[in-house]
Amino acid sequence: MPGAVVLSGFGPPEVLRWAEVSLPEPADGQIRIKVKAAGVGPTDLAIRGGHLKAFPLGPDTVLGFEAAGTVDAVGPGVEGTAVGDEVAALLFGLGGYAQYALASIWTRKPAAVSWVDAAALPSSAEAAAGVLRQLDVKRGETLLLFGGGGSVGVIATQLAVAQGVKVLSAVGARDDALAARLGATPVRYGPGLLDEVRRSGDVQAVFDAAGKGVLADAVSLAGGPERVITLSDPAAADFGVMLSHPSPDRAPGALDEAMTMLAEGRLTMRERMTMPMAQAAQAHRLLESGEVHKRIILTL
Ligand SMILES: NC(=O)c1ccc[n+]([C@@H]2O[C@H](COP(=O)([O-])OP(=O)(O)OC[C@H]3O[C@@H](n4cnc5c(N)ncnc54)[C@H](OP(=O)(O)O)[C@@H]3O)[C@@H](O)[C@H]2O)c1
Repeated sequence: MPGAVVLSGFGPPEVLRWAEVSLPEPADGQIRIKVKAAGVGPTDLAIRGGHLKAFPLGPDTVLGFEAAGTVDAVGPGVEGTAVGDEVAALLFGLGGYAQYALASIWTRKPAAVSWVDAAALPSSAEAAAGVLRQLDVKRGETLLLFGGGGSVGVIATQLAVAQGVKVLSAVGARDDALAARLGATPVRYGPGLLDEVRRSGDVQAVFDAAGKGVLADAVSLAGGPERVITLSDPAAADFGVMLSHPSPDRAPGALDEAMTMLAEGRLTMRERMTMPMAQAAQAHRLLESGEVHKRIILTL
């Protein structure tokens, strides 16, 4: 039987355990991937910790919104992909921390892109492109981006700058240089942010890719909640702000576009490191403690 990192309950990283699971069968429109690498994201940590209460826990729940690997089986109705193809996938149904994962949204992995980079791309690229589309940012507008040094923020910065949008990137000190290198104007998140942003001019839209209690400032700076979107702040409804969720229609085609940019050397991603998949619990521990300021990609 194949193996996977199973979520045995909500709690500390130790609830993640390597276990034997049944081989998943692809349903209509799905492919099965023999996984080479899978991304660990902050939402995985939130689910594991029991902070996303609505999340249902099944007997074989496996975390991981993104993975890269080789197509191993193809379900009914799937066209344009065959067994043996190298792909990166966005896993709306989770399941990335496993030897085999099922996917219904994927893109080809060009030879120029490593397995690790391919696995780091899908969730952040889809979220970045999706929220920029939902905000409908236009050339010449100013976008304030919270979390500009994070995985989503780094990609969102580049997509927005390429569209001719002026990006004010709210980052900590260690990400100032990165934000500037990507074409944004860094501003420091924290108590002085409101004044610093007001001094630099009007803001038309705010993308909260941090989720750390910034919505009052965001709404104030944007002059209302209409063009403020957060990816993860649970207080969104209190501010009348949209909480944007992953969905197949949020940014169709975004994964293909981002993968092409990556293969052509036109996309920078947040720094990454790898760990063997069986050490998923340790990966969660390192991220939670703040000891590691990089993405962690689990490898097989
Ligand atoms: N809904 C969706 O579709 C979706 C998809 C992907 C991700 N997410 C969520 O979106 C969020 C970002 O994901 P990610 O992968 O980009 O996370 P990440 O790589 O950990 O980045 C988060 C960034 O936020 C920064 N930050 C922390 N506090 C801040 C503050 N008060 N103001 C501004 N920035 C602050 C962090 O900077 P420091 O390093 O200085 O702390 C870090 O650079 C997470 O909450 C994740 O769960 C949601």
